[in-house]
Amino acid sequence: MRSDELIGVQDKLPPHEVLRLLCVATGRQSVELQLGVELTPDQVAVFESLVARRLGNEPLQYIEGSVPFGSVEVAVDPRVLIPRPETEYLFELVVTMVSEPLVIVDLCTGSGNLALALKARFPNAAVYASDVSRDAISVARSNAEGAGFEINVAHGNLFDPIPQTVKGRVDLLVSNPPYLAEREYSDLPPDVRREPRDALVAGAVGDEVVRRIGEQIGDWMAPGGVVGIEVSEFHAWSVVDYFTDIGGTVLQDLTGRDRYVIGRLPFE
Ligand SMILES: C[S@@+](CC[C@H](N)C(=O)[O-])C[C@H]1O[C@@H](n2cnc3c(N)ncnc32)[C@H](O)[C@@H]1O
Repeated sequence: MRSDELIGVQDKLPPHEVLRLLCVATGRQSVELQLGVELTPDQVAVFESLVARRLGNEPLQYIEGSVPFGSVEVAVDPRVLIPRPETEYLFELVVTMVSEPLVIVDLCTGSGNLALALKARFPNAAVYASDVSRDAISVARSNAEGAGFEINVAHGNLFDPIPQTVKGRVDLLVSNPPYLAEREYSDLPPDVRREPRDALVAGAVGDEVVRRIGEQIGDWMAPGGVVGIEVSEFHAWSVVDYFTDIGGTVLQDLTGRDRYVIGRLPFE
């Protein structure tokens, strides 16, 4: 069977998903597949098994096995949250605010997407990342190794595993913490509920983790240091009060939602 015919007849998934699954099944580029190449029976069988997985609500990115983020490709699997475009936008925002940061911290690192993209952008910086999930730590370490980057990935609660020697010296701190309230979880689409619950839900209110970051952040930042945190649009203006010491304000994502707490410490 030809790939273009197969794309035409598969109507249970959106065309872009069909094409991406066909790329996985064949190892070919999407443009070749759209133009039409002959597929082996084995390739068709693999493709059909991938379609069945996707129709069973397995996230597309877990099936593909990786996502691009900044200039890096990050492996993802059900042990970690799939990095989102909103988080990539946070990355783009903060890199415009710093020139040559020497110390970077990424709290709640998950797959290590922010830490790795920042290390790629600022190779001379020492990058420290933490996560409370041992599974996430394994994925982030493996991603760092795969990219050939030396970053310090440590297991623990927020700042707890970050070395004390870094206190007062952080030039750039980023985080995409969990920020959903417990009650929001059951309304999530079924494929999002395949991602780790603890990566999504922060507690009864949803602002529990970001508040803890805000309470501790002043001790860690260097003069002139930049902070960028992804938050829920429902908490942005309430949690920003926890970041006033570091000049925090709220910025919007590309769709106009209040999604980031951004701040810069005075240079003294
Ligand atoms: C929303 S995910 C973000 C993952 C990744 N940074 C990204 O942008 O895709 C939140 C991550 O925070 C971790 N986490 C939750 N509570 C934490 C805590 N108290 N300290 C450190 N990490 C935490 C979860 O395990 C999860 O990996």
